[in-house]
Amino acid sequence: MVIPGAVDVHVHLRHPGGSHKETPETGTAAALAGGVVAILAMPNTLPPLATPADLRASLDQIATRIRCDVGAYYGATDTNADMIAEQNAIACGLKIYLNDTYGPLRLETLAAAAQHFSAWPASRPLVVHAEGLMTAAAIGLAAAHRRPVHIAHVSRREEIELIAAAKEAGLPVTCEVTPHHLWLTHADGIALGGYGEVRPALASAADRDALWSHLNVVDCIATDHAPHSREEKEDVSPPPGMPGLETSLPLLFTAVADGRLTADRAVELLSTTPARLFRIPTPAHSEVRLELGGPWSVPDSGFQTRADWSPFAGMAVRARVVSTTLRGQSHGMARKSSLRREPGTF
Ligand code: NCD
Ligand code: ZN
Ligand code: ZN
Repeated sequence: MVIPGAVDVHVHLRHPGGSHKETPETGTAAALAGGVVAILAMPNTLPPLATPADLRASLDQIATRIRCDVGAYYGATDTNADMIAEQNAIACGLKIYLNDTYGPLRLETLAAAAQHFSAWPASRPLVVHAEGLMTAAAIGLAAAHRRPVHIAHVSRREEIELIAAAKEAGLPVTCEVTPHHLWLTHADGIALGGYGEVRPALASAADRDALWSHLNVVDCIATDHAPHSREEKEDVSPPPGMPGLETSLPLLFTAVADGRLTADRAVELLSTTPARLFRIPTPAHSEVRLELGGPWSVPDSGFQTRADWSPFAGMAVRARVVSTTLRGQSHGMARKSSLRREPGTF
């Protein structure tokens, strides 16, 4: 099957300051290996991308190192809403953290959130990490400031139900869900130990099922590819986050094979709608070749991501990425493990 390259609006490239977790080279190689041709990088780096100078420097530094298209978000702080004009020119969007997660970026006050919602241009993407009641806060801010908001990694039944109701009421809300919230539950998280730590936390089977039954409300599948090293994940206090770039398409097209959604709808969720919402130009002469069949087993190492582990290891999939072509250049079987692939692993 040949499909358009995927567009992932939620990726942690870890540049600057996190090169032991991921580098611009390994993160974008992971994207291509997973059939993703454009990624939007999150600003919770070290330092965070929260001044125009730091954002500009990061984009300049990665320019010669990346292998797929990359945009970067500007990170909101309690004090930087006045720098809007400058960073608007170079950022792919604004990211606001309303809950605690990995890294220092989190807005403390309603006043700061309101400033950002009013200052950031309504025509440009504004993405929030907003769990539980914060989902309602973000929708309320968007409605009051008459501007769209995009809710990242929706994970719980009450959140997707609220987004469904908000959309029905005509409010300008869009959202993404991750493969790990569609496939894994709290019980899987316990079995995974530190590797199962993620924000939002893996939820109940009822929450997972609600995401599937509200798939018509979902705009994008985004991986929230959040690599941390094995050493960090095996530590007593593991940082939250899991890699996902190389497993998203195999999982989604397994769901297609199982009749849970159509191939057209999968392409919409992975590619067409994120490209339209975030105004990402579709690169010419680009496509992804998938092999359908198997089942193949997701390996536990041999990935392009520097983190080189997967929460989906051992799961059976019925699709794998054979090659990703970006502007005429083909990246075939890019996974390191393809060189030493055992029968049955993808
Ligand atoms: C992300 C990270 O590691 O940067 N972690 C996570 O658990 N999702 C941060 C985030 O997306 O909230
Ligand atoms: Zn988040
Ligand atoms: Zn994230």
